[in-house]
Amino acid sequence: MYYSDQEKAEFINFRSRLFNEFFKKYSPKWDRKNARLLDFSGGPVILDYVSAAPHVSEIVHSAYKEDERKEIELWKNDNKDAHDWSPYVKYVVNEIEGLKGDAAWQERVALLRSKLKVVSCNVYNEHPITPTEDENSFSIICTTNALEAACKTYEDFKGIMKKLVKMLRLGGYIIIVFDEEETFYCVMESKWANLTLSLAQVQEAVEEAGCVVLMSERDPMPIECFENPILFDGKAHVFLVAYKVK
Ligand SMILES: C[S@@+](CC[C@H](N)C(=O)[O-])C[C@H]1O[C@@H](n2cnc3c(N)ncnc32)[C@H](O)[C@@H]1O
Repeated sequence: MYYSDQEKAEFINFRSRLFNEFFKKYSPKWDRKNARLLDFSGGPVILDYVSAAPHVSEIVHSAYKEDERKEIELWKNDNKDAHDWSPYVKYVVNEIEGLKGDAAWQERVALLRSKLKVVSCNVYNEHPITPTEDENSFSIICTTNALEAACKTYEDFKGIMKKLVKMLRLGGYIIIVFDEEETFYCVMESKWANLTLSLAQVQEAVEEAGCVVLMSERDPMPIECFENPILFDGKAHVFLVAYKVK
């Protein structure tokens, strides 16, 4: 529903631009041969690690629902029934990263498929991904619009943050993309309640989990969304990066 209009690849500009800037700036700090990335509760969406592929050895996509995992497997296996992500990969590689030509984005698709592994996740499990991972397994963990959808209370949110940071190597990065002050979002006809979070609360939770915030950027919703929130009522998209210090 959110990623079907192929003309609207610019819709992802905010987060894709910041993911690309992150990998350009910080990837020289790790050895790509043993840098693993976890997308926590990535749903059926591959977008957050398109720019990561050249800089990591493995991409672990975790998703809560079986349908979501199946959808990612279909895409990984280039199945004809998979969602067509090529306009988005093309937009990220050609426009955001500035690597021109069809070969550049087609090579990225192949690279993504070769590095992708799909697992399941649940914020309420002691080990939030299955199969379980040891402490310090990942160099980068990213999560988009998922923790606020999955957690019922701020205490739950702080709890999952600690569990995620445990899986992060010392000096590793956690990237949280969320919609500030959002109370609901819609998928098709269903309306879902969100845990309403401020930037200050997310900062507090990552700091309590043992991280230092490196940067955060807000992208306010269009004015029309404030006046008439239909699909969601967040006030701004927020992109936050922190790194583990203890
Ligand atoms: C708004 S979607 C975000 C998906 C994706 N990250 C994206 O960028 O579109 C919220 C996700 O939270 C997941 N979710 C719901 N309950 C969960 C739980 N207990 N643990 C982990 N994820 C959960 C849903 O399956 C859904 O994929």
